[in-house]
Amino acid sequence: MSQTILIEPNEDLRKIFSLNLNTFAGTDVIIRQSAEDAIQLLKILPTISLIICKNKIGAENTALRLVEHLKSEMLDIPLLVMGEVADISDRALCLPEPIAWEKLIQQAAKFLGVTPEELARRVKPDYVPMSLSYFYDITQTPCDVFIRIKKAPGEYQFVKRIHNKDVFDFNAIKKYEDQGLKEFYVQRDYQQYFTTFVTNSLVKKLERTDLSMEDRILTTAHSYDVVADQVIKIGMDQATVELADAGINSMIMSVKDSPQLAGLLKFLFTSKVSLAYQHCHLIAVMCQYILSKQSWYQPKHLEILSFVAFFSDITLKSNEQISINSDEDLRNSNLVDEERQAVITHARDAATLLERHPGANEYIKTVLMQHHGKMDGVGFNDCPGEELHPLSKVFVIADSFVKILLRPDKPSSKREILPILYAQYTNPSYQKIIKALEQKFQ
Ligand SMILES: [Fe+2]
Repeated sequence: MSQTILIEPNEDLRKIFSLNLNTFAGTDVIIRQSAEDAIQLLKILPTISLIICKNKIGAENTALRLVEHLKSEMLDIPLLVMGEVADISDRALCLPEPIAWEKLIQQAAKFLGVTPEELARRVKPDYVPMSLSYFYDITQTPCDVFIRIKKAPGEYQFVKRIHNKDVFDFNAIKKYEDQGLKEFYVQRDYQQYFTTFVTNSLVKKLERTDLSMEDRILTTAHSYDVVADQVIKIGMDQATVELADAGINSMIMSVKDSPQLAGLLKFLFTSKVSLAYQHCHLIAVMCQYILSKQSWYQPKHLEILSFVAFFSDITLKSNEQISINSDEDLRNSNLVDEERQAVITHARDAATLLERHPGANEYIKTVLMQHHGKMDGVGFNDCPGEELHPLSKVFVIADSFVKILLRPDKPSSKREILPILYAQYTNPSYQKIIKALEQKFQ
C-alpha cells in the first residue's frame, strides 16, 4: 500500500481526509504537524508516494518550505496543497479553499495512480437499491428500509418507510408498486444481512408443501428475480445457490402438475410475473411436454432441463436481450455494443457461472452451452445439426417455441408457431421433437 503524508491542523478535517484517503485512494495516511515534522520523516522514509499539506500553518509557510526541501533533495514526490501559494505551480498543485473531500480524494487518486474506474468502484453509496421482488414474500425486515426522493437534479434524500421489525404484508408492498415505485433502499452496511434474511425466508416458503399452485409459481418467480439480481450484483454465492436450488425444485413441482397452457398463460400474464421468469417457467413446461412423449424419458431429464431453463438467460439484464433468438433478431435490435456482446456470449457465460454451483453436473453445463444450437455457446445457430446432445435439442425447440409465444410481434397460438418451427429446424431429430410437442397439444 502507498503512503501519504497529511499535514492538516484542523482535527475534524484531518479525520475526514484521512479516513477517505485510506478507503477510496487506498493509501496509508501518516499524520504530521508541520513541514519541519514532515521533513524529518522524509529523511528516514524517502519512499513516500504523496504529500498533502495546508498552505500555511501558523507562522510557517508550510507548502513553500516543503517545495524548497523537495527541490534541494531532488525528491520526486508530488505535493498537493490545500489553499493558494504564489510561484510554486512548477512543483505543486494548489487546490483553492474550501475543499470538498471528494475533490481532494480525486486529485490524490490521480497522483497515486488509482484509475477513475477503480475509484468509482471504491466509492460506494451509503444506500443500495433493492428491487421489490425482495419484499413480496417477507412480512418484516431485519433492518430499516428507505425510499429515495429527488430533492434537486442529481440530489436525493432517503426517507425511512419500513422500520426494522415492522410487520407488513404483500398488499402493503403492492401499494408502493402501484404508485410506480421500482425499488426500496437499505443502508449499505445492512445489504448482506438483508439479502441473507430474504433468501432464507424464500427458501423456507418454497419448501412448504401446502402452497397453492398460484402461490408457488409467484414465490418461485420472485426467487428467480432475486437470484438474477444477486448473480448480476455479486455472482454466485452460497445463499444464491441455495435459493436457486429451492426455486428449481419448486418450479419442477409446479411444472409436473401444470394446468392447461391457456390457463397458465392467463395466470402468468395477469399476475405481473417478470418476463424473464415467464420465459423460464414456460420453457420448463414445454420441455416437460416434449419429454413426456419420449420413450427414453426419466425424471432426471426434467430436472436437468429445468435447471438449464432457470439459468439459461440469467446473465441477461433486459427484456429485449432475453427476447432475442437469432443473429437476425440481434441485428434488428436497439441494443448497445455491450448488451449485444452479452447476448452473443450468454450461453457460454451461463455455463461459466455454473462452475461455481456444486450441483451443476456435466449434462447441465453441456445443455446450457448448446442452448442456442452452438457447441461453443457463442452466437446462434438457426438450424442446428445432429451433433447436439439429445437434451439440448429438446431445449432448443422448447426455448424457440416460448420465445415466439412471448414476442408481441410474433404469433401467439400453437397452431401458428408449430409450422414456423417445422420450417426452421429441418434436421430429422428436431422434426421429431416438434412432432412430440404437437401431439402433446392435441
Ligand atoms: Fe438463451
